[in-house]
Amino acid sequence: MLLKNQVALVTGSGRGIGRAIAQLFAEEGAAVFLTARTEKELAATAEEISRNGGRASYTAADLSRPDDCERVVAAAQRKLGTIDILVNNAGHYGPVVPVEEYPLAEFDKVIAVHLRAAFLLSKLVLPGMYAKQSGVILNISSLSAKAAYAWGSAYAAAKAGMLGLTRVTAAEGARKGVRVNAICPGPVIETRMSKELGAVLAKKMGVNEEEQLAGFLNGLLQGRAQTAEEIARAALFLCSEQSSAMTGQSINVDGGVAFY
Ligand SMILES: NC(=O)c1ccc[n+]([C@@H]2O[C@H](COP(=O)([O-])OP(=O)(O)OC[C@H]3O[C@@H](n4cnc5c(N)ncnc54)[C@H](OP(=O)(O)O)[C@@H]3O)[C@@H](O)[C@H]2O)c1
Repeated sequence: MLLKNQVALVTGSGRGIGRAIAQLFAEEGAAVFLTARTEKELAATAEEISRNGGRASYTAADLSRPDDCERVVAAAQRKLGTIDILVNNAGHYGPVVPVEEYPLAEFDKVIAVHLRAAFLLSKLVLPGMYAKQSGVILNISSLSAKAAYAWGSAYAAAKAGMLGLTRVTAAEGARKGVRVNAICPGPVIETRMSKELGAVLAKKMGVNEEEQLAGFLNGLLQGRAQTAEEIARAALFLCSEQSSAMTGQSINVDGGVAFY
């Protein structure tokens, strides 16, 4: 077991990639704390983890709100103990419109849930990690941080911002036992966010959803989507001692699109 006796807070863990990460971490021995806005999905994930012999607890929260970020960390520490691993995964894509049409309030919301919440949650867990001289933070960024796709300015800016945050936090924590890395997934088409985005893009491009998807996947070296399970396996590597000499990195799990 790669995460025995570890406590992991995984955000956005009611479904999709976050759920896959929480499930795999629990299988590897971590006690996992789940959070997202939809309580029903959190309860179902926690129940499944318990049924498989793992340990999970959860609280519903909107991480675009600073008070909720504080409440989540306090609840995780109260229920499971000091947080050893933080995975900043929660987020939504936001409007699919060009910059000149992008509503300011929506821009702020996207930045708040991806970038500001990652900053706030890191700020809240780092003192405990520094006191133990150990800990790992993993930020789930995106291929959108490194490529150029139209109609997602806030999302791309938030995800690129997360890479800067990753490097700075890594620099500050490196001599205090804390590692900080990021994953840039490519298209994980099984998730709600990805399906909703695909439908909107197809409509805007005037093609059907299958054509839109096929065109996109054709641009990947492997020519296929990634699975949530594949992202979770990379997350496990980066949050375990298997990657003990890696910090400040952004790892592309994209089937071969970005090469830096
Ligand atoms: N799917 C892809 O192709 C892809 C590619 C690259 C990167 N990513 C990134 O991977 C992460 C997970 O996305 P996914 O594809 O798994 O999408 P998803 O299935 O829609 O999952 C998103 C998760 O984030 C939670 N969330 C959203 N807004 C929140 C908020 N304000 N407060 C708390 N939780 C919130 C959602 O729960 P509630 O709605 O219940 O709050 C859900 O649990 C995201 O950061 C996404 O940007 C995805």
